Amino acid sequence: MKKALLTLSIVLSIILTQGLTALSYSKETYKFEVKPLPYSYDALEPYISKETMTLHHDKHYANYVKNLNAALDKYPDLQNLTLYELLSNLDSLPQDVRNIVRNNGGGVYNHELFFNIMSNKNNPVPTGKLKEGIESTFDSYENFKSEFKKSALDVFGSGWTWLVLDKNNNLCIVNTPNQDNPICCGLKPIIGIDLWEHAYYLDYKNDRSKYIDNWFNVLDWNQALKNYKN
Ligand SMILES: [Fe+2]
Repeated sequence: MKKALLTLSIVLSIILTQGLTALSYSKETYKFEVKPLPYSYDALEPYISKETMTLHHDKHYANYVKNLNAALDKYPDLQNLTLYELLSNLDSLPQDVRNIVRNNGGGVYNHELFFNIMSNKNNPVPTGKLKEGIESTFDSYENFKSEFKKSALDVFGSGWTWLVLDKNNNLCIVNTPNQDNPICCGLKPIIGIDLWEHAYYLDYKNDRSKYIDNWFNVLDWNQALKNYKN
């Protein structure tokens, strides 16, 4: 019995740790599924509360998945496309479904990346090639953080701030409104911070600045490095 429980525990652990990885190359197509967090709901405390993570994952993210599937229900031709393929070819989608996929497909992609690049594993600074790239582009990691935060504070209303690779594989910081994703513009996201109020209001009220500062404490640069290499 103990052996069976141990095996089950290992299997669950593998599912939890692999549930949100390798997003860009995910082969998943319709119907999209709500993937579990790769950590417990309270893992990011005290910086992001269990209550925020529960609402964020179980309600907001789950609704984007549900709405995306509902939009694709009546489009069999689109049901064999991955999320990446849908979002990077928005202009080719039927007009009556384009904005629904843009908002909800973007919501799914953004949140899966966001949940995946956070952890309590204490990987608080960039390493390897990503460290070199950040230092050569922004002079230092501290300067990068300062520019990233400044950009995030400039987002008016709801949106995201990203570290991306552009078409020439140069690192740069970009903002997107609503649930738009950089892949719509041919950019490759490495990290992104959710600046919708649902991401921080329960914990920080209107203090977006403090949320951004504390978010860096749960940003997992090892996972960011994987995105960079991909
Ligand atoms: Fe969100």
